[in-house]
Amino acid sequence: MTTLFTDLNSYSEWRNGIPAAKTVGFVPTMGALHTGHVSLMRAASAQCDVVVVSIYVNALQFNSASDFQHYPRTQTADVDLCTDANVDVVFAPSKSDMFDEKDVRIIQPSSAADNFEGLDRPGHFAGVVTVVDRLFSVVSPTRAYFGIKDYQQVAVISDMSSQLHPDIEIVICETEREHDGLAMSSRNRFLSEAARVRAALLPTALTSAITQWKNGATQTGVLIEAARAILTQDPTINIQYISIVRAGSMDPVQTVSALDVIIAAVVIDGIRLIDNMSFASA
Ligand code: PAJ
Repeated sequence: MTTLFTDLNSYSEWRNGIPAAKTVGFVPTMGALHTGHVSLMRAASAQCDVVVVSIYVNALQFNSASDFQHYPRTQTADVDLCTDANVDVVFAPSKSDMFDEKDVRIIQPSSAADNFEGLDRPGHFAGVVTVVDRLFSVVSPTRAYFGIKDYQQVAVISDMSSQLHPDIEIVICETEREHDGLAMSSRNRFLSEAARVRAALLPTALTSAITQWKNGATQTGVLIEAARAILTQDPTINIQYISIVRAGSMDPVQTVSALDVIIAAVVIDGIRLIDNMSFASA
């Protein structure tokens, strides 16, 4: 049975009762849970004695007030899903439990935040590391689980965690996809039916670059062009960036090897989608 804590005191009381020898697995989320989130919970459940999922829609990481307001909030369904996934505790704190309203100390992210999502969404990663640092301190996990779907987020959080929470192990989980390859995301529900069909061009484009690489092309420019050629089949898709970086970093590469990752962001029908694939996954 999953227990829901909506305030810091009751959570802390429960946490203090967990013996030090027990491992606590932590899955931070913003709710609107789907199978991608569940895969993180299952990984935590397989590796830890106790599993905590947080649900907190973090205003600090949104670039517009309207985006924050319209973020889906589905707490009842979320808790049911956590129960099905054998989660012990859902922690859904209020804003005042998370931050001192008058004095939020913003944590500056590492240089891994500088480009890509960081350029397109100023302040986003500062908001992410600020909330994850706070959650790590409050939840006090042994291990924390993140999806590689948000590739740059993993790089930025790993940097923050190794500096501020070196005892917490970061565990990275694979991307869960829909039947047509689209990475699962809480934002997919905002796509119109037609845009949802077209969105599958994003994973198709990344796969096309990987196929070219398997066929012997190793120059970044050629591989990015292969991905771009798929996306430009649909003039309504607005490409934000396509790039190839070294695994575990945000460093661009010129000649691609199996350890590299192709990352991309597009806007379809006003909805921003990101995805990435490792050449090693080919
Ligand atoms: P959210 O978008 O709710 O995602 C929570 C976790 O689920 C993240 O680690 C994300 O990478 C992972 N995830 C999302 N889609 C996935 C998929 N298709 N397959 C596997 N994992 C997936 O990411 C955030 O929340 C926030 O930025 C947060 C870290 C909670 C800080 O507010």
